[in-house]
Formats: sequence, C-alpha cells, structure tokens
Amino acid sequence: MIFVTGGAGFIGSNFILNWFQHKNEPLLNIDALFYAGNLENLQSLKNNPHYYFVHGNINNTELLNDLFKIHRPRALVHFAAQSHVDRSIHSPNEFIESNILGTFSLLESTRLYYQNLNPTEKEQFRFLHVSTDEVYGSLNLNDPPFTENNRFQPNSPYSASKAASDHLARAWFHTYHLPVLTSNCSNNYGYFQFPEKLIPLMILNALKGEKLPVYGDGKQIRDWLFVLDHCNALLNILEKGVLGETYNIGGEAEKTNLEVVEKIALILDELMPRKDKQSYLRQIKFITDRPGHDRRYAMDITKIKKELDWQPQENFESGLKKTIEWYLNHPSWVENIQNGNYQEWLKKHYS
Ligand code: NAD
Ligand code: TYD
Repeated sequence: MIFVTGGAGFIGSNFILNWFQHKNEPLLNIDALFYAGNLENLQSLKNNPHYYFVHGNINNTELLNDLFKIHRPRALVHFAAQSHVDRSIHSPNEFIESNILGTFSLLESTRLYYQNLNPTEKEQFRFLHVSTDEVYGSLNLNDPPFTENNRFQPNSPYSASKAASDHLARAWFHTYHLPVLTSNCSNNYGYFQFPEKLIPLMILNALKGEKLPVYGDGKQIRDWLFVLDHCNALLNILEKGVLGETYNIGGEAEKTNLEVVEKIALILDELMPRKDKQSYLRQIKFITDRPGHDRRYAMDITKIKKELDWQPQENFESGLKKTIEWYLNHPSWVENIQNGNYQEWLKKHYS
C-alpha cells in the first residue's frame, strides 16, 4: 500500500486516478477536505476495493501514527498543502499551518514508523515530497531556467511556506536518514482544477459572460505542464529517484498570462461561440497587479530527462484544448463547485 496526502485536490486526485490506471496496489488518501478538496473527483473509484479514504488533517500526528500502524505503507506521496498564492496574501496563517507545520507533523510520524521497519522494508520505503518551482523566486527575461541548484528565493507567503517544507524534508533526510525524494514542478493545468487558478477561472468566467481579469500588464511568464505529465513524472521519481535528490519538473512551455488567456478565448470561440458571435477576447480586462507578483518562472528539466527518462508528452496547445473540452463536458462538476452544493454535502457527511 501507499499513502497519499491531499489526494482530493487537483493534482492529488489526478495522481490517484492515474495510479489505478497503471496499478492494482492499494492506496490510502488522507485529506482534510478544505475548500479545494473534492471527493467528487474520485467518484469513479467508489467500487474499487483497493482505494481507501480517510478524512483527516496531516497536523493530527496521532491520527497519522495510527494510520501508519494499521496500514504499514511502503511509500507516501505528500501533496497536501494550501496552494493558491492570492489566498496566501490574504490569510498566510493557513499556509504556515498546513504547509510548514503539517509537513513537520507528517515527517515526524513517518520517522517514527520508519524507525521500526525491518531492513528490507526500510530499503523499500519512500517519502515523496511534492513541491513547486515558486521556491526559486522570479527570473528576468534573459535568465536561464531554474536548475535544481538555484538558490531558494521565495517571494510570496505560499512559496515561502513551500520552501520551508522543502527544507524540512531535506533535513529529515540528512539528519534522520528518512528516505526522502523531492520534486519541484511548474504550473499545472488540466482536469478537476479548482476555478480560482488562472486557466479554469478564465474558461468559466468566459462562459458566464464575465470579465477575464488579467493582473498588471499580463506579461508575466509561467511554464505550463499538463497535470497527467506531472503525475507520470512523480511515478518515475517514486520508482527510480535517488534518495535525498530533488528533481525539477516542467513543461518547457513558457507563455505570458495574456497569451494563455487569449488562447483560451480563441479555443472557446471555436468550441462554444458567444451568442452574439463576438469573440471572447472582448471580455479581457486588465486589473491591478498582484502584490509581489513574480515575473517569470521557467524550469530546466535536463536532470529528470537524463536520469529518470521522463519528458512531457502533451504540448500546451493540445493539453489546453483537452482541458477546455473537459470543463465544457462536465457542467455538473462545475455547477456543484460554484453553487456551494459540495460544501453542503460536506457538512452533511463530515460535520
Ligand atoms: P489543491 O489546493 O487543489 O489541493 C490541495 C489538497 O490538500 C486539498 O484537497 C486540501 O483539502 C488538502 N489539504 C490542505 N491542507 C491539508 C491538511 N492540513 N491536511 C490534509 N489535507 C490538506 O492543490 P494542488 O494544486 O493539487 O497542489 C498539490 C500539491 O502540489 C501542493 O503541495 C502544491 O504546492 C504542489 N504544486 C502545485 C502546482 C500547481 O500548479 N497546482 C504546481 C507545483 C506544485
Ligand atoms: P495562478 O493560477 O494563481 O498560479 P501561480 O500564481 O501559482 O503562478 O496564476 C497564474 C498566473 O496568472 C499568475 O502570474 C497570476 C495570473 N493571474 C491573472 O492574471 N489573473 C487571475 O485572475 C489569476 C487567478 C491569475
């Protein structure tokens, strides 16, 4: 069995669905079901006897200790985190709580469990810490992409909290010999992404006839990766990664935010034209910039390509089209997320 934390969120749920496409090995998902956690993403697994879910917080060390004792996993993939930069600007405390203290609690429980494993189990065990390119800070236009050796220079409460968690994971490897692997990935997009992040927000705002809010001049650059490519990279790291190492993951697809929003508008013009036959481009509106907004992220993925034989399979144009089609074909998922039905369902089942 493996454990996954934060598996009801965007990347975690894609990882779990992808896991069962490839494997029969049991998997236990531990998620606190905060606003971005959505069990509807995993509905298709409801009759899968190998899938287990525990509604729990990674800050609850006692619960984690019990789960380790009962299930004795051979690996853990740690996604659970508060993940939205804008939210971190308004309420940083939740980011300190989940991303730093939560990771600390998880590392400690894992260490306690790991200490008592027999030598063969110790040899096999892995703790994969999933992190972000944002820990490296911001690049200028002519700078080379981030490598694994770049300094950490986080600029937002989100990236600072993730950087802190990366440091904890590193220290638990060096000090306690916990078999840690770390990945730092660029911006993901794809199915089941909560519509507060750029791509799903723009798709859904466009369809509702609302403005497409571009921060500042829209020339900030992100390196976009299709979420299933990220999930496969994580499988490679889990199976073949060298203990204590970090691996950059990215899509080699640098785009300005304005380019991304314009592409979304043009794809929607084709797939779901506006009633008045005007382009969705008309809905773009430049608004006040995000404070401390990082200008550019870009990942050098030479290491994972060479050492683990992974590279992205999806290009940005095809991945974006698939993503937009997915949102168009899942109106009830979108409606439930937007009208609060899901929050009511949660209260009823998990109060
Ligand atoms: P998300 O916000 O969609 O999901 C996070 C999940 O973690 C939610 O289901 C939430 O309920 C759960 N969670 C949060 N705090 C918890 C806690 N204390 N205990 C238990 N569960 C908790 O995030 P995501 O986009 O899926 O990101 C997953 C991970 O990948 C994060 O660690 C993030 O930093 C990292 N990452 C994300 C991106 C991206 O573009 N989304 C890129 C690189 C790395
Ligand atoms: P986001 O999806 O929040 O990811 P991150 O901040 O982690 O990169 O934002 C991606 C980029 O899009 C970022 O530069 C901020 C910008 N953005 C907008 O211009 N408008 C928006 O409404 C949002 C949510 C983001």
